[in-house]
Formats: sequence, structure tokens, C-alpha cells
Amino acid sequence: MSAKHIVIGITGGIAAYKSLFLIRLFKSNGYEVKVVTTRNALEFVTPLTIETLSQNKLYCDMFDPAETRDVHHISMADWADCVIVAPATANIIGKYAHGIADDALSTMLLATRKPIFIAPAMNDKMFEDISVQHNIELLRQKGCHIIGPQSGFLACGSSGTGRMEEPEKIFETVHRHLNSSQRLAGKKVMITAGPTYEPIDPVRFIGNHSSGLMGFCLAEAAADEGAEVTLVTGPTHLTCQHANIHRVDVQTAEQMFQQCIQIVDNQDIMIMSAAVADFTPAQTAPEKIKKEHDSLDLHLVKTKDILATIGKQKRENQLLIGFALETENEIENATRKLHTKNADVIVLNSLRDKGAGFGTATNKVRMITRDGKTFESELKDKHAIARDILDLACDLTQ
Ligand code: CTP
Repeated sequence: MSAKHIVIGITGGIAAYKSLFLIRLFKSNGYEVKVVTTRNALEFVTPLTIETLSQNKLYCDMFDPAETRDVHHISMADWADCVIVAPATANIIGKYAHGIADDALSTMLLATRKPIFIAPAMNDKMFEDISVQHNIELLRQKGCHIIGPQSGFLACGSSGTGRMEEPEKIFETVHRHLNSSQRLAGKKVMITAGPTYEPIDPVRFIGNHSSGLMGFCLAEAAADEGAEVTLVTGPTHLTCQHANIHRVDVQTAEQMFQQCIQIVDNQDIMIMSAAVADFTPAQTAPEKIKKEHDSLDLHLVKTKDILATIGKQKRENQLLIGFALETENEIENATRKLHTKNADVIVLNSLRDKGAGFGTATNKVRMITRDGKTFESELKDKHAIARDILDLACDLTQ
């Protein structure tokens, strides 16, 4: 198989030095890399370093007299299997969002029809600015994959959201995208994620420890396989950056139920990984409850079971995957849930497994299918677990 071609666009931000590592990561994993920079980027990194690492000539000047025979912004746009802009300053984001082409990189971006990954990097105040946010949204709508930024220490001395995503993460995201076999292209996948918050009064709620990470990893893995994903999520700080993921934010079990029921008929695969509250206060107090009494009784009523409702109405050609979080008699309880909720697969999490379940970046699961087959994973990163679950989903929807 011939090497995949990556064009890395570097713009003028301090994070440009990290892009040198990005070039190395792609080169050492067998990719061909060409680099396009803005003039400002060369204030931070030198052409010699870039050309030595990429083993290709750097492209920065659109009117280089030595290069007159080739229209570089067009030939590079065609040569690329994908384009990454890292770091992407507010300037290049704004230019590409609005179709401005006044240098080598912005012109090449407009000319390519290949997947584009943008890794913003800037001061936190700049990143929060309404026009920058609007431009990023425009890029998402154009189908760009936005990677990061992360929160943390910024070069200007402050701390906030604006740090470029680490090169390893950028590499991993792009590498996964380019190497997925698009087994779910044309399919619609609905995923629930996170906790739900059931309001007691305007300031208090009943929630749980779910971070939503497992659901977000599943959404990313399904989107990487080419699916059109709807991610219905309870409150979480997580962000998702995939062009194929449509995110719907909800608070309560009832809102999650309503959102899911509205779209379920059009879905091919439904994965219910949310930790939905089983009970909700019968009434939400209109004002903050005062501590005037020595005790407080809350009357709770059952929420609707989304998984079971969908299980009842699903069609033959729809695949339904539920989760079971158990602390004892795990396999027995999970198998019972599989049948009573009419799921096709139950993914069992045991809170007895160290490093698995809530609030961890890792998980260990058992997948139980309707015909009694069991697949057991070792303890691994939730992204890897998500890919295992998607592998099984792909096999079952063939
Ligand atoms: N689930 C759901 N709607 C609910 C409750 C749960 O869709 N109101 C889904 C979860 O997303 C998960 C599965 O049902 O996929 C099992 O959730 P779990 O909490 O393990 O089981 P419960 O059905 O709540 O049963 P129990 O709490 O008695 O174990």
C-alpha cells in the first residue's frame, strides 16, 4: 500500500513548535508529509527544520520564481489525503470561514476537497470571542474536524482554553480517520451519554457520577466509521469535534426520552450508554427549599426507561445496544436486562473491576449478545473499548 499524504499547515502562533513533533509523528508512522506555512509561522519555526523533518520542500511563498511550472496550491490540495492546520490562529480560522485566499495556506485550503482538521491555538480571551466562536461553527458546518483546543497554561502567562491539542492526540485523530474502513457509511447511529440531572428545586438536583466519556468515545468511533451520529447527552464538560456528530444537550431523563423517541425511527443503530436517573422528584419546588424543618422527604417517581421503550418498538433491521452497570451477580443481571429490555447486545460494566466504570478514562466490559455469545475486553482506554463495541455493531449489522 502506498504511503498516505498529509499536508500540514502551520500558522503564526507559539504552538508552531509543537507542529514539528506532529511532522515527526506522521513521518515515523509511514506518512508522506508536505508543509505549508504562513509568513508569520516562520517567526516561530525555521524552513530548515521543517524541510529536514518532512523531507520535502516547504511551501510558503505563492510567487516563488523558482517554482513557476507548478501551481502549488492546486497540486498540494490534490496530492493531500487530508489537510491539518496546526496551530490554527484566529486569523486563518476567520479567513477560511469566510473564503478569503490571500496567501499559500488560505488559498490551498479553499482549493482542497479533502478532509480538513483544524487545531485552534490562541489566547483564551481570543478563543472565547464571539466572532472566533462563530467562525469555528462555520468551519464545522463546512465539514472541518475541529481538534481541541485544550485548557491549561497558555504562552501569554494566563491559564484557560486555547492551548493547541497535543501532537499525539492530533496524530491519533487523523490516523484513525484515514485508516477507518467507513463500515457505517450511510448509517444513522443514535447514542445517549452522560448523567441526567433531576431538579429538586431551582438550585438542586439528583444526579450521578457519569462523566459521559464512554458515550462520547462511542460517538467518535461511530463517526470515524462514517456514520451520521446523533449524540443525546446529559450535562457534561466534554466537547466533541467530529463533523459527523450532531450533539443534542439535555438535562433530565424526560428530556432525553423525548429527544430519543423523536428520532429513533430513522436510526439504524441505537447505543444507550447514558446513566439515566431511575427516579425523579414528583414535583420540582418552584423556589429554593428552605431548611426550616429538621428533615425533608422527597417523593420520587419512576422515570421512563428509554432503552426498554425503544426495545419494544424497534424494527428487525435496527440494532439496539444497552449498558448494564452492576455491582453483584453481574452476568445474570445483565442477561436479564438484555431480555427484559429487548436489546440485541448488553455491554456489562462491573463496578467491581478496578479502573472500570464511572469517572475513569479506562473501562473493562463484557458484551453479551442475544444468542448468548460473550465477548470480554481487557482493561483499556475508553476509545479502544468504544472501537470494540463498534466492531461488534458492524458485524451484527452486516
Ligand atoms: N436506561 C434507560 N432509561 C432509563 C434507565 C436506564 O435508557 N430510565 C438504560 C441505560 O442507558 C442502560 C440500561 O438502561 O443502557 C441499563 O441501565 P442500568 O442503570 O444498569 O439499569 P436499570 O434499568 O436502571 O436497572 P437497575 O437500576 O435496577 O439495575
